[in-house]
Amino acid sequence: MIGFKKYFCGNKMERMPDIAFIMMSFSFKLLDFFSSVDKRMDGFGIKKKFTVIDYGCGPGRHLKKVSGLVGEKGKVYAVDIHKLAIKSVEKKIEKYDLGNVVPVLANGHFCKIDAHIADMIYALDMFHMIKTPLSFLKELHRLLKKDGFLIIEDGHQPRNESKTKINNSKLWNIVEESKKHLKCIPV
Ligand SMILES: C[S@@+](CC[C@H](N)C(=O)[O-])C[C@H]1O[C@@H](n2cnc3c(N)ncnc32)[C@H](O)[C@@H]1O
Repeated sequence: MIGFKKYFCGNKMERMPDIAFIMMSFSFKLLDFFSSVDKRMDGFGIKKKFTVIDYGCGPGRHLKKVSGLVGEKGKVYAVDIHKLAIKSVEKKIEKYDLGNVVPVLANGHFCKIDAHIADMIYALDMFHMIKTPLSFLKELHRLLKKDGFLIIEDGHQPRNESKTKINNSKLWNIVEESKKHLKCIPV
């Protein structure tokens, strides 16, 4: 299963086949059974009333936690390019009564969300899938407030590759680094 996941969720394609998405979701369920996925959000600095975008949300495994962190007066947009991701998010909204979560299907590197709306965007385990980083990073830049911040995970690519893509865009300044993430602010 690991090889399967690596192929389809690796560097081959952005919108994976349905079967790959289903397998990936299943492997996440197994992983999350053994270690709490909520811990992944620690140190992200998500606050009450924030508008947050989970870009490339997949099956939405972080949404319950983030919905609680931003509270009733906050909002979480769950964006993905795969329609099965959106279906899965809709189910989670219903199951956990996540009234502040809005699912959004992306079209290429564009999603129907107003410009400069987000206090914070996080993009986890997906940057390596992006074929044209400039247009992707431009879209994130469009969505973020001028004083907002982006947390982006390397995913399956080395740190120097993530940094080169970000620096080449000339749209973002990297202000902090941790083992898996880069924190960026708009230029
Ligand atoms: C490996 S999964 C990670 C899901 C989630 N971020 C997590 O960490 O559990 C990558 C997700 O990114 C999505 N994705 C890939 N390219 C995308 C794009 N251009 N726009 C939005 N979502 C995208 C995929 O459909 C997939 O659901």
